[in-house]
Amino acid sequence: MRHVVYSQPFTVGALTSLFQNTDWIRQQFRDPEGKKRLRNLFPDKNMILLFYEPSTRTRISFQMAGIHLGMSTYATENAKEFSSAIKGETIEDTMHVVCGYEPSVVVLRHYQEGAAERAAKIAEQYNVSIVNAGDGGGQHPTQALLDVYTIHTELGGVNGKIVLMGGDLKNGRTARSLAYLLSKFERVKIRFFSPPELTMKDDILEHLDEHGVDYSDSTNHRGLPDLLQEADVVYWTRFQKEREGNGADELARQFAEKYSIGREELGFMKEKSILMHPLPRVKEISPEIDEDPRSAYFRQAHYGMHVRMALLQELCKDK
Ligand code: NCD
Repeated sequence: MRHVVYSQPFTVGALTSLFQNTDWIRQQFRDPEGKKRLRNLFPDKNMILLFYEPSTRTRISFQMAGIHLGMSTYATENAKEFSSAIKGETIEDTMHVVCGYEPSVVVLRHYQEGAAERAAKIAEQYNVSIVNAGDGGGQHPTQALLDVYTIHTELGGVNGKIVLMGGDLKNGRTARSLAYLLSKFERVKIRFFSPPELTMKDDILEHLDEHGVDYSDSTNHRGLPDLLQEADVVYWTRFQKEREGNGADELARQFAEKYSIGREELGFMKEKSILMHPLPRVKEISPEIDEDPRSAYFRQAHYGMHVRMALLQELCKDK
């Protein structure tokens, strides 16, 4: 594996081995000797994190993942304003420059869809791996990896699961990347539930059609209680107001009213099901249900660091 730009190239075999490694890493954290073992893995590797869009989890968990593996890391958190991008530098030029500083990996979050692919084209000329940490409304493949790991580890597998994805599916790049990964597993059923203005885009629906995935889109008029009752996984997302232009305030109001999960909605969910969210949440999941064992979103965020460690191991091992 050289770059992680999209989630499509991951096969079930690759995911299985990544998850085994993630389990091993989690085990190492349970004793001080294990932690030391991890720290000794990549002392001569390093990572640059270039973030042109806000981030908390992705940036910090990647940086901590590197630190726990003994890597040196350099992170910029507001590259849109505090790098030469503000002066008009292209992502290509920035990549030519930073790849020359000999990083092993560049983790990139950018506001333009396609930026990670453009960066990877330049990084190809150097021995540098690019990881897409979110490219505008495009994809967020490492989030999808940790999302699938969460399902795998909390529910003992992914095959045959019914996944309800709700919220802003038009702008949610995590839901897009997750749909691609879920389509690799057997007998997975996907149910989409979103306002008519924020439905999953056609490229994903076409991909699911091509791969014979059983899904129902947001226009099928099934009510939320009905969908919640059958789901093994409820994957909820926030309204991405920053990606909508005019009318965002009105949409936000409707969204808050009809697309929120609280005690009542949780009441419809099966005993052995999980409620996930890529975070940050705004108001679409009420904090009053945080203590319920089905609320998996903070555990999900924590697995993120372990999955990213396993991914960094994979990317750095032959460098
Ligand atoms: C997501 C993102 O940036 O796409 N956050 C994350 O990385 N966990 C989701 C979001 O911003 O809503």
